[in-house]
Amino acid sequence: MLRTAARRPPCLVTALSLLLLVLVGCSPEHYPQTTLLPRGDFARIADDLLDTTVKWALLVFVLVEGVLIYAIFRFRGKPGDPEPHQTHGNTTVEIIWTVIPALILAAIAVPTVRAIFQTNAIPAKDALTIEVVGHQWWWEFRYPEYNVTTANEIHIPVGRTVSLRMGSADVIHSFWVPQFAAKRDVFANRESRMWFKAETEGEYPAQCAEFCGIQHGRMAYRIKAHKPAEFEAWVAHMKTLGAKPAAGTRPSEAAPASTAGSNSGVRTASEGATIQQQSGQQGGNQNAQYAAGEKLFASKGCVACHSLQAVDAPKGMVGPNLANVGARSYIAAGTLKNTDANLARWIRDPQSIKKGVLMPNLGLTEADAQALAAFLRAHQ
Ligand code: CUA
Repeated sequence: MLRTAARRPPCLVTALSLLLLVLVGCSPEHYPQTTLLPRGDFARIADDLLDTTVKWALLVFVLVEGVLIYAIFRFRGKPGDPEPHQTHGNTTVEIIWTVIPALILAAIAVPTVRAIFQTNAIPAKDALTIEVVGHQWWWEFRYPEYNVTTANEIHIPVGRTVSLRMGSADVIHSFWVPQFAAKRDVFANRESRMWFKAETEGEYPAQCAEFCGIQHGRMAYRIKAHKPAEFEAWVAHMKTLGAKPAAGTRPSEAAPASTAGSNSGVRTASEGATIQQQSGQQGGNQNAQYAAGEKLFASKGCVACHSLQAVDAPKGMVGPNLANVGARSYIAAGTLKNTDANLARWIRDPQSIKKGVLMPNLGLTEADAQALAAFLRAHQ
């Protein structure tokens, strides 16, 4: 196609149409992980800086290329022209072409340095602190202000600065929320900080941005930005998940949920939250599956790696907190949509889906996996 185009005489309309097509294809609306569509103050600072730099670069490009093209045509040599006048050294010109770039660099450096200080400042005391822990290959989010823990979906209020205190449970990961802020590497032996204030609610994808092992590419997470009242409702709901201290090894909230019959207890608790509810479930079969799943969760050793408590969640767990796993959009850190079929598939054979993940294949039957999926689905 390119060859055909090259043989034809240049056609401005075709060229402009193609350019338009390319530019439409580049629209940031089509790319949720774009940094060109900031939805938070931190991301806006970075985006403004990019705009500034690009504008200066564009100006330099147009001026230099313009002068070059002008010189090519205006001073083109013709046959029989005499030898052009030779110059060697010109102090005025040399001063001009040293001073102009220096001024342009200064015009870029000043906002850059300002942005570095702004984005590294420690946020005000009224910010919402969230502790972030990177794990191979999932993310843990703890809210010390509310004593609530969750995984792989970070819920934040719009209009309030969140202050992230970040670390890693193992290797170096990088926390990256493209539309809200920038990247920060997280380490096992020192704390990284970052802050941002979300401007618009919605669900946004984000992911680990530092190679951290073979499943680095499946270390994604979601940002769920809520209106303040909805965020408060989410916190209130989370506080009902495992509010009572764990007695023994049994997940504390499982007992009331199961005696109330499948999902019903959980449903009441999640009223007012922005959590999608399961619909059209068949009572009796579901109850039996839930009960079987609850038993399997304890007997198959799931409890050793996963906590079902959102409140007072133990630290240092190997696997993600599952207190509200039933309500999440994705499972396995952004690997699969959170459907019943996918949940059962994951539980049955995680190694075929995410090779190398710390969750072992437990040799479960299809019925076992479905029962566990039903049990976990009720944890919303
Ligand atoms: Cu964690 Cu890449």
